Amino acid sequence: MNKTIKHGGNLYEASDLYGIPLEDWIDLSTGINPRSWQPPEIPISVWQRLPEAEDDLLSVATQYYGCEDLLPIAGSQVAIQSLPYCRQHSRIGIVSPCYAEHPYWWEQAGHDVIRLSSGEIDGLIEGLDVLLLINPNNPDGTQYTLEKLLGWHHLLAKKDGWLIVDEAFIDSRPKQSLLSRFKCMPKGLIVLRSIGKFFGLAGIRLGFIAAEPLLLTQLAQRQGPWAVSHPARWLGALALADQQWQQQTCAFLVKQSDALYQILSDYFQNIHQSHYFCYVPHPQAEQIKHQLAEQGVWVRYFEKPYAIRFGLPKNDKELTKLLIILSCFLRL
Ligand SMILES: Cc1ncc(COP(=O)(O)O)c(C=O)c1O
Repeated sequence: MNKTIKHGGNLYEASDLYGIPLEDWIDLSTGINPRSWQPPEIPISVWQRLPEAEDDLLSVATQYYGCEDLLPIAGSQVAIQSLPYCRQHSRIGIVSPCYAEHPYWWEQAGHDVIRLSSGEIDGLIEGLDVLLLINPNNPDGTQYTLEKLLGWHHLLAKKDGWLIVDEAFIDSRPKQSLLSRFKCMPKGLIVLRSIGKFFGLAGIRLGFIAAEPLLLTQLAQRQGPWAVSHPARWLGALALADQQWQQQTCAFLVKQSDALYQILSDYFQNIHQSHYFCYVPHPQAEQIKHQLAEQGVWVRYFEKPYAIRFGLPKNDKELTKLLIILSCFLRL
């Protein structure tokens, strides 16, 4: 693992630093749905057999995403690491702040990376070969309309450029996904999807990339025959088909993020709310992180700009505990 990039979910580190046992933390450091889809027992035959592309994962995923040009990958992280090696030297604009793995891997592959804000895209797109953004953005929750995205894709595709949209956090708003517009992916449009966030199954390492078939073939060759395990494919197909759970989960995420926003709004201004987290730019972010950690609440801290991201508490008990800790221990 690349140690220079910080991620949430690092509870072992939190536990070591603050001397609080793993099981006593309220972990708000990720954007992962804390009420995961509940996997059934996995039959021994699923553990035994090698993964096969002909199982029903792809047909279920096509139904769920509304798009046919999909490649299952071991988490959208795999696409993040592979795509920079599928293009010659390019000028890539990456809307920032963003998930830090994106600029890291494009820089590793030797491309010119230009970090830009969402407001600068229209002014700079003429000079770019690739534009990469996250919709809705992690960490600040910025959302883009489909019309804006399609306009940028049109400009880039005309000159053999790419628009890459990371939709890791879009499942609770399926109509906002570019995949809702394309049964077959047009040239130059690449969309990343994750099973980790909405389904809360980050540990099984499953995601999808949607792109034109030629690029999917290239990526499939890069990752080899057994990159996604059979248990991950088997569980992924069940989760993607479970419409009742998906509807309940959309309602849960809305309710829980509203409740989190309400609690935080007594203490902070300028809260960016998304269905999976609340992002709070704050000059004293480091002190906030430390004061909460001393009480067993682990949040994600950012330095550029200084900010805290609060993931969703998993139940009312955690919400109440957060409320009490903020009111008794936050000293700014
Ligand atoms: C915006 C974004 N994209 C992609 C990923 C990678 O997700 P995964 O590889 O679990 O699908 C993350 C993980 O936090 C993320 O925040």
